[in-house]
Amino acid sequence: MIDLEKATLAFRTLLSEQLQRVADIDTTKTDFSKKEKITVGLIDGDGIGPIIMKQAERVLNKLLSNEIAEGKIVLKRIEGLTLENRLQTKKAVPDDVLSEIKKCDVILKGPTSTPMGGNLESANVALRRELDLYANVRPISIPKENIDWVFFRENTEGEYVLGSRGIDIEGLSVDFKVTTDVGTERIARAAFDYAKNNGKKYVSVVTKANIMKKTDGRFTRICHEVAKDYPDISVDDWYIDIMTANLVNPEIRSKFQVFLLPNLYGDIITDEAAQLQGGVGTAGSANLGDRYAMFEAIHGSAPRMIEEGLGEYANPESILRATVMLLRHICLFDKANALENALDSCHIKVTGTKDGAKCQAYGDIITESL
Ligand code: IPM
Ligand code: MG
Repeated sequence: MIDLEKATLAFRTLLSEQLQRVADIDTTKTDFSKKEKITVGLIDGDGIGPIIMKQAERVLNKLLSNEIAEGKIVLKRIEGLTLENRLQTKKAVPDDVLSEIKKCDVILKGPTSTPMGGNLESANVALRRELDLYANVRPISIPKENIDWVFFRENTEGEYVLGSRGIDIEGLSVDFKVTTDVGTERIARAAFDYAKNNGKKYVSVVTKANIMKKTDGRFTRICHEVAKDYPDISVDDWYIDIMTANLVNPEIRSKFQVFLLPNLYGDIITDEAAQLQGGVGTAGSANLGDRYAMFEAIHGSAPRMIEEGLGEYANPESILRATVMLLRHICLFDKANALENALDSCHIKVTGTKDGAKCQAYGDIITESL
C-alpha cells in the first residue's frame, strides 16, 4: 500500500517506461525462407501442458525427421518454465529460461499456470513482452457454416502490459490500459496484410471506444488510418459487447472474416469463438513478432482437469493446430498442410472427460496418418 504522492510518482515512471518501450521497438524481420538452420524451442508448461506437448513433440519428430537429420531444424527442449520454479525465483520467466528461449527462433509452448492475484506475472504475458510478440493470431473455422474467422489480437499493450503494475492506495486500486500509435499500427498492418494476401475482403475493428475513449479511441483511429493503404478491403467498427452477441447469431456470423482488436477483448472473444468451433481444446494460437514467434494452445493449463484426474483426456488438437501455424511461419508449407489435413480428417472425439478419447490415442492416429 502506498500513499498518494508515491502513487503519482509510480504513474510517472510507468508513463516514461512505456514511451521508452515504444521507442526501442526493433522492426527488423526474420526471413525464415532464407534461414539455413531453424531452432524450435519446446516448452512443456504446467497442468495439462506436458501431456499435450508430448503428442506435439512426437508429431514434429515424425514430420520433420529428414530436416532434423540434415540439421536444418533443431528441436530444443527448454526446461524450467514451471509454476514451481517461477514461484521460487519470483520471476514470471526465470532468467536462465529466458536466455535459452532467446537462443531459439520459434517456440512451441504448453500452457503455463498463473496464480490469481498476488504479484507473479503470467509467463505468457512476460514472454509476449520480452520477445515483443505483438500479433496474437487465432484462426477459427466451422466449415459446415462457412465460417472462416481470423482474430488479430494486439498482444503487447492494452490491459496486459501493466497488468501486474497497477496501484493500490488505501481503499482504492487502479490498473492501467495502454494504447500506442506504433503498437496499434503494427497489429493493424498485420491484419490488413493477412486479409490482402489471403483473399479476405472485410476487416472488423472491435473495441469499446464509446467508453474507453482514449485508448480504444486511438486504436480505432489508427486502424482506419492504416485501412486507407488497403482500398480493396472494407473495414467497419463494432463494440465488443454486440460482437460477442454476433458470434452466436447464426444469421450473420459467417459474414465476418478478419477481426482486429485490443488485447483483453481479443482474449475473451477468442475463447468464445473457439467454443463455437468445438471447444477451446480445438484451437491454436500464434504469437508473432518480427524476430521471434511463439505458438501455443488457446487455453490455459486446466488445473481442474489435473485435480479431477482427467489429465490424460486433455485434447492435443489445440497444440497441434498451433504446430500447423508454426510450420507455416517457418515456411514449411507442405508439412503444415500435411498436419492440417491429418487433423481435419481425424474423427475421434477428445472431450476432456472420460466419455472422450485419450490424448495419447489422438496422437497415435495423427502420427500414424502422417
Ligand atoms: C490466452 C490466455 C492468456 C491471456 C493467459 C494464460 C495469460 O488466456 O492466451 O488467451 O490472457 O492472454
Ligand atoms: Mg485467453
